[in-house]
This record gives sequence, C-alpha cells and structure tokens, in this order.
Amino acid sequence: MDALEALRTRRTTQNYQPSEIPQEILLTALETALYAPNHRLTYPWRFVIVGRETRQQLKEQAKQAKLQTRSTPASPEELAKLDQQLSEKLLYPAAMVVFCCAQSKDPVRQREDYATVACSIQNFSLALHAMGYGSKWGTGDLTTAASTYQLLGIEREQHEIIGFVWVGQPEGAIPRPKRPDLHEVLQTLP
Ligand SMILES: Cc1cc2nc3c(=O)[nH]c(=O)nc-3n(C[C@H](O)[C@H](O)[C@H](O)COP(=O)(O)O)c2cc1C
Repeated sequence: MDALEALRTRRTTQNYQPSEIPQEILLTALETALYAPNHRLTYPWRFVIVGRETRQQLKEQAKQAKLQTRSTPASPEELAKLDQQLSEKLLYPAAMVVFCCAQSKDPVRQREDYATVACSIQNFSLALHAMGYGSKWGTGDLTTAASTYQLLGIEREQHEIIGFVWVGQPEGAIPRPKRPDLHEVLQTLP
C-alpha cells in the first residue's frame, strides 16, 4: 500500500473480532510512531502495551464505575449485558497501547509535545493499516480516571494519557465518515 492510499483508506475500527497480533507487528508500528515530527526534539513519548491480565482488571474497574452511576441495582440480565459490552470493548481487540505525553510546566512546549504524540498516533494507525490491522484512538472517562493511571503505573505529574489505541481485526462494516469538500476549508492567498 502506498502512502497516499494508506492516508485515504485508514478508518477508525469501532468493533473488533476476538483476535491476536504478532508482537513484531506491534513493535514495528510503534517504531514508526517515533518518526513523528517533534519540535526541539523533546522526545515526549511514553507507550504502554497493556496485556490481557491488566485489561481484565481495567474491565473490572470500568464495570464498577458504571455500576456506581446507577440509582438501582442492576438485574442479572443487565449485568450480563454490561459484561459483554465491556469484553467487546476492552478484551476483544488484539492489542491496547496507551500513548502518553510527558508533562511540562511550559504551556507552549506542552502544546507542541501533545501535537507530536498526536502525530505519533496517526503514524501508528497508518502503519498498522498498511500491515492489515484496524485501530481506534479512544479518549473518555476511562482514559482520565485516577484508577486507570494507578493500574497502568503512570504518574500523572510526569505523563498525561493522550489516548488508548485499540488494535485488531475489524468486526462488521466500518463507518466511513464524510469529510468536508476541500474547497469548503481552503483559502488561497495571492
Ligand atoms: C483526539 C481524538 C479522540 C478520539 N476519541 C474517540 C473516542 O473516545 N471514541 C471513538 O469512538 N472514537 C474516538 N476518536 C476517533 C474519531 O471518532 C474518528 O477519528 C472520527 O470519527 C473519524 O473517523 P475516521 O478515523 O474513520 O476517519 C478520537 C479521535 C481523536 C483524534
């Protein structure tokens, strides 16, 4: 797959088949993440590959967090449904990689370092796509929870979680969100 094709055809994979991925493929894609542009060569990266045992613990934490938001106890059917939903989300993908950015007291450096990590996630996703795997950049409650930082051994004062990136074989159709027409967003100056 050439670069233009990869850029145009990569899509976010929402749903995954229960699947595995060879470690070499994951590491190759992570190496490409390090080729993202990085102003002042600050090397703000930290990547955490989260294995199945830890993902199982994450699932339990997510389940407890969901149950705590309820005003009435969940029925056995509701519990089974929640368990299935969380398994599909947290256990089915072949891999889960947490992309973190070093914290900085300098807001300009923080913003530029975030940009580097964001570019790294795109590199990672494109590399995986070129090697036949889908991925998804996820944010949301689980990525900001204190319990997640603790479970993953990430010190919030040192690193910020920028995204959970899920990797694996897609299940079902992949939505292809529309993009704006180039001319709606392009301004050309003389
Ligand atoms: C910063 C960022 C955070 C995202 N967080 C989520 C998320 O929490 N859940 C989700 O389903 N997709 C998430 N996405 C993926 C976007 O929803 C997705 O890129 C968008 O719908 C366009 O689809 P495409 O990637 O297939 O082009 C995120 C993307 C970015 C850049």
